[in-house]
Amino acid sequence: MNVDLYERIWMILAGVLIVAFAGTVVVTSVAQGVHPPSNVETIDPVMAMADPRFTNLGVHEREDGGVDVVGMARMFFFLPTEIRVPTDTPVTFRLTSPDVIHGFQVVGTNVNVMVIPGYVSTITSTFGEPGEYLVVCNEFCGPAHHAMAAKLIVEEAQ
Ligand code: CUA
Repeated sequence: MNVDLYERIWMILAGVLIVAFAGTVVVTSVAQGVHPPSNVETIDPVMAMADPRFTNLGVHEREDGGVDVVGMARMFFFLPTEIRVPTDTPVTFRLTSPDVIHGFQVVGTNVNVMVIPGYVSTITSTFGEPGEYLVVCNEFCGPAHHAMAAKLIVEEAQ
């Protein structure tokens, strides 16, 4: 079978690219630990409201100096509706949903996470600027999706 020289070159180049791309995936995942975002902490969504991890909603100080914000996203509100956290402190949000997929976005910050029933979504951020931030749901979740909002108040750390 005769393959034209130029076609042969393109075939070789395509083959090199495929090997390079596959190699990149293997090297970054094995050597550098780069993986797709995932969250393996699961929860029974039907029992989420009664789950010990989510019975005490609100802001809790951790021993390492950070704070945990334990929250719930549900049709069509966030619990708690008002969250107060200190500035310059690592804030870890721990969120779940007992019904459908919601979003948890703190407008103007890098906090933006999907809240998926069956999982505990975790995201950590530090807020440098005191102020009031709007929290919105950015996943369409039903007829009152647009009304689903909360308030994050960042206060000067004591
Ligand atoms: Cu919850 Cu949109």
